[in-house]
Amino acid sequence: MRKQRIKVRICVGTACFVQGGADLLLYGDFLDPELLGECDIEGTSCLGGCKAESRDRKAPFVEINGTLHANVTPALLVELLREVAHA
Ligand code: FES
Repeated sequence: MRKQRIKVRICVGTACFVQGGADLLLYGDFLDPELLGECDIEGTSCLGGCKAESRDRKAPFVEINGTLHANVTPALLVELLREVAHA
């Protein structure tokens, strides 16, 4: 049975972009080709997370298979995608 593809939406809204989201657009440099091949990745306008920011949940935000993640760094993005791919 074929695995479902991983849907990744990287916020490129202003709050996320200035808080490091721009680095996430370089995701291709951090993912191995096999993992990259399992993902549908797109940049998107504001995901809404910045409107409910708290001390622990700040931009940049990324949505993976419908779950919104905060404080996403390139390293965390890779870690999250590996977790989802191997779940
Ligand atoms: S600008 Fe990214 S969640 Fe609002």
